[in-house]
Amino acid sequence: MTTCKKLAESPGLTSIPSLYTHTANPKDIQAVSEDPEDPIPVIDFSLLTSGTPHQRSQAIQELGKACKDWGFFMLINHGVPERQMEAVIEGLRGFFDLTEEEKREFEGKNLLDPIRCGTSFNKSLEKVFFWRDFLKILINPDHEFQFPYKPAGFREVSLDYCKRIREVARELLKAISMSLGLEPCYIEKATNLESGLQVFAANLYPPCPQPELAMGLPPHSDHGLLTLLVQNGIGGLQTQHNGNWVKVNAIPNSFLVNTADQLEILSNGKYKSNVHRAVVNGKATRISLGIANGPSLETMIRPAPELESKEQPAAYIGMTYKGYLELQQGNQLDGKSCLDRVRAFN
Ligand code: OGA
Ligand code: NI
Repeated sequence: MTTCKKLAESPGLTSIPSLYTHTANPKDIQAVSEDPEDPIPVIDFSLLTSGTPHQRSQAIQELGKACKDWGFFMLINHGVPERQMEAVIEGLRGFFDLTEEEKREFEGKNLLDPIRCGTSFNKSLEKVFFWRDFLKILINPDHEFQFPYKPAGFREVSLDYCKRIREVARELLKAISMSLGLEPCYIEKATNLESGLQVFAANLYPPCPQPELAMGLPPHSDHGLLTLLVQNGIGGLQTQHNGNWVKVNAIPNSFLVNTADQLEILSNGKYKSNVHRAVVNGKATRISLGIANGPSLETMIRPAPELESKEQPAAYIGMTYKGYLELQQGNQLDGKSCLDRVRAFN
């Protein structure tokens, strides 16, 4: 395995190998800054959990609107300590700093191996690589004892962090259920969330000598229900909204949350999964950590019957989450092409 990090550290590197050069239409690459008239939604978690009934119902409404209009929002006052998030990011930095030899132990081969690290997304299928190394660990339901044991302390702080994120995600999914007019536990029950798949998905984007020619992660949607992402203070995430690419300027200590494909299916298309991408920069190493929260692998996910009608029949066929995951991860990352395969023809 040659990591992107190792390549970026080659002495005197002033251009990127052609293997990393993306020749997309430059117009397609342009992103805009947040429009003050149409800002990225901000959701206050404390109002969802401990506001007055009025504040709560207002926050639920705002959350529903954020899911519908953006599929993306920044979550503030979530109660997860900032220093814990920083400790996890430091652990990640230490992990990516291990030698290539040490990391090889965690390489993994198959999609559902509990620990996988590597570079790009699916190298065996890609003609052009992404400027990114990754570490993916399956946390829930039953892999929590399989986590890299180095660097020291990384495992403990990360597992506790994931547990906290699960609670935040569960509360968000309750509020999202209500915003759809469903009973609070609808999504939790329909997805068997208790034994749902939780993935610790970390990215390292080394400084790139030609950032305009490289791509960190191409446009894609995530496969689960909700992904909660944090970063080491360096930006690079862009989210698609009304046909524009909007640069995400993260509020300090917020979670960047995007709605994913299984939520689009469950909501019968009311909440479209968010399309996003990551660009790289020439100066600083960017580390991001997404915690993806999804249904249990064996659960069949289909549109909620309550959200179907004569006018809006089920827009997707049912499929187990595992089947869906294999479909997405076994292919190249390409927008929402995977979701297209479960669309029903009405
Ligand atoms: C991902 C992802 C974005 C980022 O890992 O799925 O979209 O900013 N990451 O690193
Ligand atoms: Ni993503």
